[in-house]
Amino acid sequence: MLSWDEEASAPAARPPVPMGATEAAAPAEAIAKRVHADDKRIINGKTDVNQLVPFKYKWAWDKYLAGCANHWMPQEVNMQRDIELWKNPNGLTDDERRLVKRNLGFFVTADSLAANNIVLGTYRHITAPECRQYLLRQAFEEAIHTHAYQYIVESLGLDEAEIFNAYNEVKSIRDKDEFLIPFINTLTDPAFTTGTTENDQKLLKSLIVFACLMEGLFFYVGFTQILALGRQNKMMGAAEQYQYILRDESMHCNFGIDLINTIKMENPLLWTPAFREEIKALFLEAVDLEYAYAEDTMPRGVLGLNATMFKGYLRFIANRRAQQIGLETLFAQEENPFPWMSEMIDLKKERNFFETRVTEYQTGGALNWE
Ligand SMILES: [Fe+2]
Ligand SMILES: [Fe+2]
Repeated sequence: MLSWDEEASAPAARPPVPMGATEAAAPAEAIAKRVHADDKRIINGKTDVNQLVPFKYKWAWDKYLAGCANHWMPQEVNMQRDIELWKNPNGLTDDERRLVKRNLGFFVTADSLAANNIVLGTYRHITAPECRQYLLRQAFEEAIHTHAYQYIVESLGLDEAEIFNAYNEVKSIRDKDEFLIPFINTLTDPAFTTGTTENDQKLLKSLIVFACLMEGLFFYVGFTQILALGRQNKMMGAAEQYQYILRDESMHCNFGIDLINTIKMENPLLWTPAFREEIKALFLEAVDLEYAYAEDTMPRGVLGLNATMFKGYLRFIANRRAQQIGLETLFAQEENPFPWMSEMIDLKKERNFFETRVTEYQTGGALNWE
């Protein structure tokens, strides 16, 4: 119980109270309950989740600050050239149009799945307030991404029903979502709680699927395709938006990996050989699903890209994600067939980014839009 009775709880000698201020000393038992950083835990923590400080997980706070510094809004991006290109019957090939529609068909609902997974699932099970703070920022970024995809669909005058229902109607997209949904359902089930080895492993598995396989793998065929269009001076507005989304998503993925590795460190018993085998099997399945999606979106090869190049790229990414969470690589050493994607991921945004972006896009050393 907090006491507001100054007389009863005041120590004998105290500094003068500033004019206009009232002071109440907390009882000793309340002070004893104050949060100590050492007691915080990512899962199953007992400390008060309402108290952000004292910080323990500074990496999460730093990512929250970085996410805020990268803030952007879709309507700040001019879509006029994209609209003209899309409406020009000779502007794009049929294969390029199919690619754009299948691409948006996955993304328009993917970020809603991601947002629901965070706010209805992950957030409840994470007991470190620094991580919750980042998850709140991440959830808003997922809303911005859904907004961005909707803004592209609306700008181009696409059939909204076709694009927004693709995740029900296009097999290669549906298969990816069906792979994800059981893991989302685990976290969003109101009856699910952590605290047993079995359930903590379920949580960890869902976090790995979400960070490493959804945000860290399932987004990459789509990002590469639209950014490849941009590199050929096509769909430049959409490409600009995807570039900001890619930057946000690589932060989400890195946050998820830090979260996973910290949970592993705090709960080493979860990381059993059987559990690792299960995770490896999920990685292999996800690579197959994403490759099928690449084939479906590019049945004949387009923009100098073809599905086979993506086979190498997906293996390269899967190896990297596996290493990032402490698994051995899954495939013989694969080269990155799209080194320019790494430059895109490393894009840094200055404070005045939007004022200078036209210049940066045309002449920036790291970006090559030839
Ligand atoms: Fe997103
Ligand atoms: Fe994300």
